[in-house]
Amino acid sequence: MIKIAVTGACGKMGGLIIENVLKSPDMKLVSAIDVTNTGKDIGEVMRIGKLDVQVWDANDIDTVLGKAKPDVLIDFTIAQAAVKNVIASAGKKVNLVIGTTGFTPEQRALMDKAIKENAIAAVISPNFSIGVNVFWGLLAQAAKRLSDYDIEIIEAHHNQKKDAPSGTAVKAAEIISKTLGGKDIIYGRHGIAPRQKEIGIHAVRGGDIAGDHTVLFAGDGERIEIKHQAHSRQAFAQGAVKAALWVSKASPGIYEMKDVLEIE
Ligand SMILES: NC(=O)c1ccc[n+]([C@@H]2O[C@H](COP(=O)([O-])OP(=O)(O)OC[C@H]3O[C@@H](n4cnc5c(N)ncnc54)[C@H](O)[C@@H]3O)[C@@H](O)[C@H]2O)c1
Repeated sequence: MIKIAVTGACGKMGGLIIENVLKSPDMKLVSAIDVTNTGKDIGEVMRIGKLDVQVWDANDIDTVLGKAKPDVLIDFTIAQAAVKNVIASAGKKVNLVIGTTGFTPEQRALMDKAIKENAIAAVISPNFSIGVNVFWGLLAQAAKRLSDYDIEIIEAHHNQKKDAPSGTAVKAAEIISKTLGGKDIIYGRHGIAPRQKEIGIHAVRGGDIAGDHTVLFAGDGERIEIKHQAHSRQAFAQGAVKAALWVSKASPGIYEMKDVLEIE
């Protein structure tokens, strides 16, 4: 039985991940960690009935991990919190699934250092859905053949999302840029802003949109749009739980979701 701890347990993703962990015959929820609802039973917070798993205060994460001894910690919080959680988890030799987005390069470097120094395994991805991981592969293929086309990325998310643009859109831009040998990336346009050969990223926020990403390749007389739309957060939660199962048996290292899915 793989023992799972979840940070951000009371959040939108945390709750769904816990539901998926509870459904898995191979997993047991041993710890729920957040900064809200501390001391309450996580099942009661989620309104699914008592689970006898208390919500622990994230400020006590070292103690909680020491007591619960999880095999894997799944983190869907906010960037600043995730860095602390990852460092604590790595220090306790607990493998990781990191779904939080919006890291600065410095924050990412701090997490990578903790993971490497403690020789644990971590899957880090701004998107755990199978569809988006296939979508990223399609973008690389299209970019190779359409290198002269103007490339724009448009993403849309719900009105509660804190970071912009989405980690998925940034990763899409990075994949295309790498395929084309390096491209400038700009975030939105305003005022006098003639188009050069950059990749533009545009973020839309509204309502309850789970996550849309469109990459536009526009040439003379034609355009191609490659689009992924998440219908709900379930695709992300299922992927994160699949990654947790995989990382529990992985050798030390930093992995992406494509390693879990064995796709290019
Ligand atoms: N990788 C993916 O597939 C994927 C998919 C969806 C969302 N996300 C990302 O996951 C993150 C969470 O998204 P959400 O929609 O669930 O947000 P949310 O605001 O609903 O939940 C975040 C939770 O984290 C908690 N939190 C804050 N600080 C904490 C700390 N120090 N320790 C523990 N918990 C803490 C909050 O109280 C809240 O309950 C965001 O960064 C989002 O972009 C990633």
